[in-house]
Amino acid sequence: MIAIGNDHAAPQLKMAVAKFLESEGIEYLDFGVAEGEKCDYPDKAKEVCDAVVSGRCEKAILLCGTGVGMSMAANKIKGIRAACCSDTFSAKFTRLHNDANVLCIGQRVVGDGLATEIVKVFLETPFEGGRHAVRVDKIMKLEG
Ligand code: RB5
Repeated sequence: MIAIGNDHAAPQLKMAVAKFLESEGIEYLDFGVAEGEKCDYPDKAKEVCDAVVSGRCEKAILLCGTGVGMSMAANKIKGIRAACCSDTFSAKFTRLHNDANVLCIGQRVVGDGLATEIVKVFLETPFEGGRHAVRVDKIMKLEG
C-alpha cells in the first residue's frame, strides 16, 4: 500500500500520480487535499509519514509546490527517509543507496509526465543493501 498526500499547491499532480498508480494496479491511500482546499504541508507530511511509520503503508509520495517543504517536514519524523526528486536518476539512486521510503515532488517544478516516470522508478527500484545498509544505519542513528 502506498500513501499519497498533497497540499493546495499540488492537487493536479496528485491526480496524475493517482491515475498512474491505478493504471499499474498499485493500491494507494489518498491523504491529500482536493482542488480548492488548503492545508499546511508540515501537517500533511506528518499525517502521511505516520502511515508509513506505523506500517500501514510501505512507502509514501508527498507532493507540494516544490517538494522541498514536504521533504523537510518528512525528514523530521523518526523512521522516515524522504527524498525530493526532480529526475529519475535521483529517484533510482535514493532507493538503491539511501533506501528512501518517501518520495517528494513539486508540481511547480516537474510536469506530470516526468513526475510519473519518477514515481515508477522510485517504486520499482529495490534497496541495494550491503555497504549502503551500513550508511543508512548511520543516517538513522543521527535521529538520536
Ligand atoms: C505552498 O504555497 C508552498 O509553499 C508549498 O506547497 C511548498 O512548495 C513548500 O515547500
